[in-house]
Amino acid sequence: MILALFGPPGCGKGTQAKRLVDHLQTVQLSTGDMLREAIKRNDSLGVKAKEFMSQGKLVPDDLMIDLIKTRISKSDCTSGFMLDGFPRTVAQAKALDQMLRNSGRSGIDHVISFNVPTEELVERLSGRLVCQNCGTSFHEKTKIPRNPNTCDNCSGNLIKRDDDKPEVVRTRLNTFLRDTAPVESFYKDLNLLRVVDAVGPETKVFDRILGSIGAGN
Ligand code: AP5
Ligand code: MG
Repeated sequence: MILALFGPPGCGKGTQAKRLVDHLQTVQLSTGDMLREAIKRNDSLGVKAKEFMSQGKLVPDDLMIDLIKTRISKSDCTSGFMLDGFPRTVAQAKALDQMLRNSGRSGIDHVISFNVPTEELVERLSGRLVCQNCGTSFHEKTKIPRNPNTCDNCSGNLIKRDDDKPEVVRTRLNTFLRDTAPVESFYKDLNLLRVVDAVGPETKVFDRILGSIGAGN
């Protein structure tokens, strides 16, 4: 099965991806995480991406398309994968469609669109803490780690993301509305869009997602 998690910054894609990977026995392909890894390695992709990410802008399509093309050709993606943060422009969506066709694969099965009001997105991002080791998200007020600055899952260090600063969050939200929101109509027209209310307890949102793709209990 090929899935894509779609929605604005802070809507819970990463949080739900961790649960879905276990439940559906699939792999999470988070383009944001891949870019942050490239920045840590300080390789040429990382150097280019940093300039855009630090400002809350999208990394150019050609770089992102190449990144995903290489990643989905790996053996762990043969029986399916779950995209988190890609496609983010209509050009990326079209390129994905083309690369799946060219490789003789079936197309995307479901695009799960997370619906969260903007005020809540800002709240979520302003208090987010992320594990440097396993990537699990926590929150200073609503999902407090058992021990300060320590991940409940792997005891990794919790940090704030550079792009969660209020001025960068504003740009990320505007970028989403301008460049990414049209991707929703693209998939709606193909009858692949599953809109999910992503407000409420994580477990409830998870159940709604499974229901939306016919994988509920
Ligand atoms: P990326 O890393 O993909 O960031 P994003 O899309 O902005 O989304 P986030 O990771 O910030 O949020 P999330 O939806 O994963 O929420 P989370 O689960 O953490 O991209 C970063 C940057 O990389 C982009 O700005 C761009 O520059 C570049 N980039 C990446 N992909 C690209 C592409 N394809 N093309 C071009 N550029 C690209 O949750 C957030 C918080 O909410 C946490 O604190 C969590 O605990 C809390 N929370 C989660 N669920 C709930 C709930 N149900 N109720 C209450 N709180 C909740
Ligand atoms: Mg994320």
